[in-house]
Amino acid sequence: MIDRRNFIRMLGSAGIISLTDFNHIFASSNTLFSALDFGKFTWGVATAAFQNEGSINIDDRGLSIWDVFSQDKRNIKDKSNAIHACDFYNLYKDDIALTKSLGFNAFRFSISWPRILPEGKGSINQKGIDFYNRVIDQCLEIGVDPWITLYHWDLPQALEEEGGWANRDIINRFGDYGTICAKHFGDRAKNWLVLNEPMAFTSLGYMTGLHAPGKKGLSNFLQAVHHATLSQAIGGRILRSGITNAKIGTTFSCSNIDIIRDTLVHENAGKRLDALLNRLFIEPSLGLGYPIADLPMLKRIEKYLFAGDEEQMKFDFDFIGLQHYFDITAKFSLYPPLLWAKNINAQKEKNIELTSMNWPVKPEGLYRVIKQFSNYKIKSIYITENGAAFNDEIVEGNIHDTQRIRYFESYLHELLRAKNDGYPVNGYFVWTLMDNFEWSEGYRPKFGLVSVDQNMRRIIKDSGFWFREFLSENDK
Ligand code: GAL
Repeated sequence: MIDRRNFIRMLGSAGIISLTDFNHIFASSNTLFSALDFGKFTWGVATAAFQNEGSINIDDRGLSIWDVFSQDKRNIKDKSNAIHACDFYNLYKDDIALTKSLGFNAFRFSISWPRILPEGKGSINQKGIDFYNRVIDQCLEIGVDPWITLYHWDLPQALEEEGGWANRDIINRFGDYGTICAKHFGDRAKNWLVLNEPMAFTSLGYMTGLHAPGKKGLSNFLQAVHHATLSQAIGGRILRSGITNAKIGTTFSCSNIDIIRDTLVHENAGKRLDALLNRLFIEPSLGLGYPIADLPMLKRIEKYLFAGDEEQMKFDFDFIGLQHYFDITAKFSLYPPLLWAKNINAQKEKNIELTSMNWPVKPEGLYRVIKQFSNYKIKSIYITENGAAFNDEIVEGNIHDTQRIRYFESYLHELLRAKNDGYPVNGYFVWTLMDNFEWSEGYRPKFGLVSVDQNMRRIIKDSGFWFREFLSENDK
């Protein structure tokens, strides 16, 4: 007998139901497609060390730039810190088991550089190595693939004191750190991501000062960009030479960009934003150099290039990780100078749902960024982060986060469309397993499939149960 889902799907493909009906049915959360439709696919949750681990003063971990930055309460909206975060450092076994119980087959986490090298360089902290060995072993023991990010923003403070990402020496320090990780973890962990969103940590950390280390200015930013671009490729080469059978990628934040009106001045503003937000880090790795022609202010980066750098910036990644959260509507603007472009505030757009970060919910954006990046002839793409913060409420011990369920349904629908249209997408990671320390926003935004209370008790939200149901199709 044909079930409801297949019946609705049949009506849809026969053109019998309209888009409105489709959306309505989606809203009632009887998803029209299943995990099986994606075929062999990686389904994971993504996490990051600083946002989840806590225990920042335990087992000889060194200080990171985020410890120092969050000590100054003016830097964090709710004046919180990540001293305890979600206590993943102690509860990792349960959290990885929880990931598995929700049906995921991959667990993405990052290694905290100051746990491995408390001073950023020099002597190795064996207790840090032991911790990540335990995390990897737990993943393997219960049958979840470990996906490791080398750098998810928690630079050792000792290196920041030498200039951090704005000091060219960082490329050697990062290389040494990568070599240590490859040596200790590469025998068991085979999926690696070199950097997490270099555009975010260089712009927020070194240009606007909104993230650690709180530096500002174009020259800090451009130096950080160039050294991150070199480190991205050098890290890739180190992992490839140090680990047999590794799959090596790196992640890029990306936004689909619409233009407010089809006039040349706005179109060029859109091109500048595209160069900055989407093209800046991927193109040098492909040997295309920095996108200076479409964003002339980038010309200033050339003074930081040494002979041979163009070649050093290239690396043939096995896959790329796309991280997508919001679309942009571009407009010409006198501010900021040199960029001469801005994003229209999504709150001003009519009939657009917003997340609690005020990011617009526009699922088609996911399809469009996949299409855009596929034009580079990428071998393989994973969505290494996608998700949404909404204001959850606990009602009698339950969290009925229907908005988040609808969000995932609609974005996964676009992901499936991209896959069916032949784009090489092979996996999807939800941001994130559990509500955690959302950088300078503190704990207010809730992105998790699971909430964490003051006693560190985990409560699975309806969206977590939704994934469990959705992914259980894989086992049938
Ligand atoms: C990404 C970042 C994550 C998380 C997420 C949600 O840019 O990689 O760590 O904070 O945004 O805002």
